[in-house]
Amino acid sequence: MAQALLLPELEADEREKPVNVASVPQRSPFRYPGGKTWLVPLFRRWMMSFSSQPKTLVEPFAGGGIISLTAAFEHLADRVVMVELDEQIAAVWETILGGDAKWLAKKLLAFELTTESAKAELAKPPQSCRELAFQTILKNRTAHGGILAEGAGVLKHGENGKGILSRWYPQTIAKRITNIEFVTKRLEFIHGNAFEILTEYRNDKSAVFFIDPPYTAGGKRAGSRLYNHSEIDHEKLFSVCEKLHGDFLMTYDNAAEVLALAERHGFSTRPVAMKNTHHAEMSELLIGRNLDWVEDGGVFREEPIPFSVTVFAQRNNPLRRKAVTK
Ligand SMILES: C[S@@+](CC[C@H](N)C(=O)[O-])C[C@H]1O[C@@H](n2cnc3c(N)ncnc32)[C@H](O)[C@@H]1O
Repeated sequence: MAQALLLPELEADEREKPVNVASVPQRSPFRYPGGKTWLVPLFRRWMMSFSSQPKTLVEPFAGGGIISLTAAFEHLADRVVMVELDEQIAAVWETILGGDAKWLAKKLLAFELTTESAKAELAKPPQSCRELAFQTILKNRTAHGGILAEGAGVLKHGENGKGILSRWYPQTIAKRITNIEFVTKRLEFIHGNAFEILTEYRNDKSAVFFIDPPYTAGGKRAGSRLYNHSEIDHEKLFSVCEKLHGDFLMTYDNAAEVLALAERHGFSTRPVAMKNTHHAEMSELLIGRNLDWVEDGGVFREEPIPFSVTVFAQRNNPLRRKAVTK
């Protein structure tokens, strides 16, 4: 009972995760290429560096939305505005935040996944936003690397020898979807263009911006294969950031063209090391007006400990009990 009061917004599987300050709850229903789960510890640090809690967090290139979800679940901002241009991804957020989260969760739980059933489902023209949402999750969980861009193939051999089922965890995904319903009052989704929303919030001093565009600066092709919308005017994005009244944090690949852009606009940069799912260490770049809040050291991981092996009963967790008896 006391625990339910302490954590009223989370359902059982969230509450039962072990208390580990280094862990990052997986809250997104997507497995998103370029997803920023690994950045969550630094994002939290940034959001806590302000003298008062920001009123609004704007995430203009939301994708799988882990940063917006983290801010909403952890009350790092009073409200969160997520923006995404891709119609398929937008359908998922509109369905979850528009009252059809339970429908989507049930549909996922009822679906018997085989290569044939996936192909048949994905060949149907969707008749509604929620049907497109279901197809998007199905495609995201059965395509190589979770890539939703045109031409991405369905998994044949899977990513761990389990074929098409290798990334299909319907119960976990359904639970993440229904959990998001608990924070809908703080989350707004806009199916639109990042540049328009940035302009709309430009004079708002109480807003902060987390900006994670497709990495295509300097003609890089990596970002262009991953998303349907990948071409953006990077020079223009930097100019828009310069005019924002609120603070911003941008992430990019650590490339010479990006460093030059940042320097031209008078922004600070800081490389951060991260380990991707293949354990390769990569360097990404944080960009902002003042990055003094970033402490040196630490390698941030792209994925935390797999969801299924970390769960243990709440009642056996001494740290949680201590928190309750305080
Ligand atoms: C690097 S991804 C963002 C990943 C996200 N931070 C996450 O953790 O899942 C960039 C996203 O920007 C979207 N995008 C591209 N151009 C856009 C635009 N003009 N307005 C809004 N979104 C756009 C792409 O569809 C893609 O989902």
